[in-house]
Amino acid sequence: MRFDPWNPDFVAFPYDAYAELRREAPVGFFEPTGQWLVARHADVNALLRDRRLGRTYLHVATHEEFGRLSPPEFQEPWWRVNNAGMLDLEPPEHTRLRRLVSRAFTPRMVESLRPRVKEIAGGLVDAFVAQGGGDLIAEVAEPLPVTVIAEMLGVPESDRGLLRPWSADMCGMFELNPSLEAQHAAVRAATEFAGYLRGLAAERRGDPGDDLISALAQIEELTEDELVGTCVLLLNAGHEATVNVTGNGWWALFRNPGELARLRADHSLLPTAIEELMRWDTPLQMFERWVLEDIEIGGVAIPKGVEVALLFGSANRDPEVFVEPDRLDLGRADNPHISFGAGIHFCLGAPLARIELAESFGALLTKAPAMELVKEPVWKPGYVIRGLESLEVAI
Ligand code: HEM
Repeated sequence: MRFDPWNPDFVAFPYDAYAELRREAPVGFFEPTGQWLVARHADVNALLRDRRLGRTYLHVATHEEFGRLSPPEFQEPWWRVNNAGMLDLEPPEHTRLRRLVSRAFTPRMVESLRPRVKEIAGGLVDAFVAQGGGDLIAEVAEPLPVTVIAEMLGVPESDRGLLRPWSADMCGMFELNPSLEAQHAAVRAATEFAGYLRGLAAERRGDPGDDLISALAQIEELTEDELVGTCVLLLNAGHEATVNVTGNGWWALFRNPGELARLRADHSLLPTAIEELMRWDTPLQMFERWVLEDIEIGGVAIPKGVEVALLFGSANRDPEVFVEPDRLDLGRADNPHISFGAGIHFCLGAPLARIELAESFGALLTKAPAMELVKEPVWKPGYVIRGLESLEVAI
């Protein structure tokens, strides 16, 4: 099968297509999106660190100067939120925003959250075990990271149910060629989410609590749009991928019973197991970059103004870097996967994600030692953010 991100069979198993791309067209033009696909680990890894590319071009040129159309007017609320978060900014704005926010995400700060993460994970898994199982994604994978990031930011418990649908709708815009319906849903979600956060920030400015929104609301140099963009980014990025690593990870374990038995027999494998699960079925399959100067990738000349699509899922299965890349090896010691990215946009939440995953997998291994699959899961249609609809298990 060829690279076909709108085909459910490809989404379910993109790895043969990737192998073909790496062999035959490691840097190849993809007509339907007008992007250059980059399939090899060495190229993806180098491009993520290359300052001649950017998540945006708006720091150096207008849409017109870059030979691109401005987004349609109706999308303005979505872009306003998106473009104010650090992920879609480049230096110097990126540096400034990342520095402000990273204080809350140092490994030491995040490590201090571990007891609370453990408590939440333990509580969710206890309830799941007591009811005899069910949908692991809805009952454990989603609520854990949503609760953790919502508590960090200080989103009241009664409002947390809003976060997941807003995030899912907003993230629809990250898929390749989203439908008009998905675009409208994303814009609606961005408008509601931004309005909600403006209200919350105004409240906290007057009556600060011990939370990140209060802390950010006190920073005078942060504009209101930057505050909203930052909170939306943290709330969305703070759970989307973690949910999918949990779901994809357990599905990988069920498909590799020998490895699952190995992990059950030796929980000390958990740290390498989590890295391996993130490599083997990468939750974020692709990230894009704009080419800001003429460059060459793997011997192919790529002109300024082009967009490249970096295929993380392919890079993570590259035999040039990983021994037997298609084998799930929970003890894999040499594992330079790029699931958290690389370079200046390297995932700010990686230490937190690792703690969440260790605690949720750990709690499930301990409290549900014989958990088994009830029925084969179905993949959601999304390719870029790739995860399961549900994962039905019995305890
Ligand atoms: C296993 C879960 C996660 C994965 C696989 C993941 C992956 C990534 C990747 C690949 C990027 C870089 C994208 C690019 O270069 O274009 C990124 C950026 C980011 N992630 Fe994560 N992430 C995860 C969890 C989290 C969590 C829990 C947070 C918590 C707040 C978070 C916050 C962020 C932020 C703020 C950025 C933007 C960093 C910047 O632009 O400098 N992520 N993430």
